[in-house]
Amino acid sequence: MNKKCKLIIVAGARPNFMKISPFIHAIDKHNKARIDNKIEYILVHTGQHYDDRMSKQFFKELNIPEADINLGVGSGTHAEQVGYTMIEFEKVLRIEQPDWVVVVGDVNATLACSVTAKKQWIKCCHIEAGLRSGDMTMPEEINRLVTDRLSDLLLTPDLLSNENLRREGVPEEKIRFVGNIMIDTLEANREKVSSLHIEDIVKRNILAGFKLNTEIPKEEHYALMTLHRPSNVDNSETLSPIINFIANELASQITLLWPIHPRTLKQLKEFNLSDVIAKQPNIILLEPLGYLDMLRLNMTAKVILTDSGGLQEECTVLGTPCLTLRWNTERPITLKEHGGASVLVGNDVKQIRDVFKSAMQQPRLSCRPALWDGKTAERCLQAIFEAS
Ligand code: UD1
Repeated sequence: MNKKCKLIIVAGARPNFMKISPFIHAIDKHNKARIDNKIEYILVHTGQHYDDRMSKQFFKELNIPEADINLGVGSGTHAEQVGYTMIEFEKVLRIEQPDWVVVVGDVNATLACSVTAKKQWIKCCHIEAGLRSGDMTMPEEINRLVTDRLSDLLLTPDLLSNENLRREGVPEEKIRFVGNIMIDTLEANREKVSSLHIEDIVKRNILAGFKLNTEIPKEEHYALMTLHRPSNVDNSETLSPIINFIANELASQITLLWPIHPRTLKQLKEFNLSDVIAKQPNIILLEPLGYLDMLRLNMTAKVILTDSGGLQEECTVLGTPCLTLRWNTERPITLKEHGGASVLVGNDVKQIRDVFKSAMQQPRLSCRPALWDGKTAERCLQAIFEAS
């Protein structure tokens, strides 16, 4: 590697931070090892997630340097978030003129910054390319499709993603299979978090205003849930039956730890569902958790219910039985039929009940897809060099 290179690395929302962390550390390692040909990088935070618990805490825990530039986009409709990001990011590109813009994942920042880069004739690299749910009602699917169509270098987490890209006609020379960069972060922190106690995590993160009316569960004696997708939480006909199942059936069998996303908290109040939760002492509501606490809880959860893509992947490597509350997934490699720990249950209570029952009997069964080895970030960097 002896080429000069200037990168802009983009992050916007919570699931991006665990992906940029190992990449930045790989650059730092590269730069430390040489006197010349160092890589210059600028970190741009679009500001889509702005709460301390959704953003700042991740930077601190994952040793991500403070962003050089924060675009301050904040909350808004999709068009507002994407539009505002493009306007501000264009100004950054005009001044900085990087060789590459590196985007990760599938959030609005990924879409906005890849489009803006390409319109400025700047090369774009997409880390986590090729994932497809096939579901065009998901905003993330639109973000993935557009970003991949435009990118010059598509770095894939698994071979199913390579197939998706080939099927769409992406030229072979643009695709590189590098593995899952999130697993770099998991492996870098796994040992460190094993000394954290469940009780301390719960006490530190109790949701503001929530009254704890039950004993804090021990390892392997709790279920863990996250829920934030608009398709699950933005409509009362979907959210109500899930909440009723959780409160009346699941929580009568096992204590549920539920770190609650700001969007979901808002919707529970809006649909008058907060009381259903408050009446069930076995549900413990937590603030959105930092990366380390979440990883620790995942390591000894009896079962996880989630609509997050990242958690499905972490459950695969940790072996935690996982109910994915979606009808499809862009990450089929996490499913049981591919050796993973996850089962799609949609938002149908009958399916959730049946799969929950069997998951409670299921032992941990960890699986490691090819190149989910903790060394993906180095391969990403190498691929960028080779394409420069
Ligand atoms: C976004 C991503 C999604 C990712 C999720 C993880 C897109 C299209 N979606 O969805 O892929 O899985 O992040 O969290 O980019 N809010 C706060 N504080 C914050 C951020 C958000 O209170 O720091 C509230 C706002 O009221 C906002 C709502 O949460 O309206 C939703 O946030 P938004 O960024 O629009 O999307 P997410 O649902 O978080």
